[in-house]
Amino acid sequence: MTQSDFGRPIRSYVLRTGRMTAGQQRAFEQNWERWGLEPAAGTLDFDRVFGRPGPRVLEIGFGMGQSLVTMAAAAPLTNFIGIEVHRPGVGRLLHSMAEQGVDNIRVYCHDAVEVLRDCIPDASLDTVQIFFPDPWHKKKHNKRRLIQPPFLTLVSSKLKPGGTLHLATDWENYAQQMLEVLGAAGGLENTCGPGQFAPRPEHRPLTKFELRGERLGHGVWDLVFRRS
Ligand SMILES: C[S@@+](CC[C@H](N)C(=O)[O-])C[C@H]1O[C@@H](n2cnc3c(N)ncnc32)[C@H](O)[C@@H]1O
Repeated sequence: MTQSDFGRPIRSYVLRTGRMTAGQQRAFEQNWERWGLEPAAGTLDFDRVFGRPGPRVLEIGFGMGQSLVTMAAAAPLTNFIGIEVHRPGVGRLLHSMAEQGVDNIRVYCHDAVEVLRDCIPDASLDTVQIFFPDPWHKKKHNKRRLIQPPFLTLVSSKLKPGGTLHLATDWENYAQQMLEVLGAAGGLENTCGPGQFAPRPEHRPLTKFELRGERLGHGVWDLVFRRS
């Protein structure tokens, strides 16, 4: 989160007013205590949270969460942490977890910038993944894009040395900006060589937003960097 000229924080999202469906509401009531995490709890020991050690993958802005649940089901020994501000999306994720018997995800319903800052220990994550962050197409809104130098400094500090940052977008202008900002960030190395996008990794499921972009004829750009 950066500051506007008036000292207000510039956020990377607008909270949509969409109502929760009855199923999403029920999933919240039945599962939040089991899988939900509150930022007020401060910095956590995630081995204790999951009740076991294991590789840690953090996903920011998982939307409706289908791809996160698919990835967690395919990697049952990995501990996943999801962060999403859109409450109906969190309800949908909890519903899918309960329905599919997936137990290796814990969830924050909050701004990822604040969760990273206040709750995630430094050098504690094996992977951070951000798939199809809001593109903020108009030039005057580009400042709201999540992938900016101060955010990357924060994200990098939470990755273990050798940890992976995986981004994907269907908006070419944002893809170029990501490549520039990541290429200039200290301590991050492009796994595909300077200035190169990554081939789509097989383990990344198709996301809802990606599918929509595909129907509109958009391309997709993946970026995979490593903390050096
Ligand atoms: C364009 S959607 C993509 C959703 C999903 N990754 C997909 O591909 O279908 C971007 C998501 O990021 C979430 N988001 C944006 N800024 C966020 C922030 N600072 N913290 C948490 N979630 C955020 C939005 O609520 C939205 O659901």
